Amino acid sequence: MSAGPEIVVLGDPAATAAERLVAAAGAGGHIALAGGSTPGSAYERAAALGSDWSSATLWFGDERCVPSDHEHSNFAMVRRALLDRLSGPVPDVHRIEVERAPLEAATVYEAALFEAFEGAMPELDLALLGLGPDAHTASLFEGQPALGERERLAVAVDSPGMAPLVARVTMTLPVLNAAREVVFLATGADKAEAARRAFASPADRRAPASLVRPVRGALRVLLDEAAASELPREAVAARSGGRAA
Ligand code: 6PG
Repeated sequence: MSAGPEIVVLGDPAATAAERLVAAAGAGGHIALAGGSTPGSAYERAAALGSDWSSATLWFGDERCVPSDHEHSNFAMVRRALLDRLSGPVPDVHRIEVERAPLEAATVYEAALFEAFEGAMPELDLALLGLGPDAHTASLFEGQPALGERERLAVAVDSPGMAPLVARVTMTLPVLNAAREVVFLATGADKAEAARRAFASPADRRAPASLVRPVRGALRVLLDEAAASELPREAVAARSGGRAA
């Protein structure tokens, strides 16, 4: 049985996320990056820390099926916030090939994962994940077949439960739960209920992030005070840069 999440409430959770990214990159790890808007500042901070990313391998927890220069593209956001800001040799980046049909893009992405991990279940060194206000993560949404997928490593999602309402490709729970370290980064009051449902409540398919419980890996949740505001005090392992734990 995996341990519960280590929930840490911080004045600047993006800085801690950046430190975890740099540690994994410097160790030449396989890192799955989160999409959306929250992690942008963590990527910028990580790039500014000036570590050596040349031996790291970057993946995407999920991608929107839009052109890779589109405003909703997670790859475009990572290129802007991280890749273009790295001073040294760039890491190996496995972009999800959104120019293909979603199903084909998922199949190609899964093949790349299997190849990188020699046919075994991928063991990511770090999976950075975000949290939607509906407690989704990656593109794993309530009521969608992707959430129940236990064989495939990556699947297409035709009807995401939240904007942008475009087809997605997402890593599945088996991959996320095989990671050596999962870090959630969530900020803002609009994530408070989702954080309670995802990290301080029993696992529930209606809160997909609550199903991310690494089998052997560490699970860390980095929140600001606003995102942590609905958590019972005893659920928080540590607090800094704000109220006492
Ligand atoms: C995506 C993300 C998704 C995101 C949450 C939070 O592609 O949308 O992978 O899971 O992390 O929706 O998004 P924000 O950080 O923009 O609130």
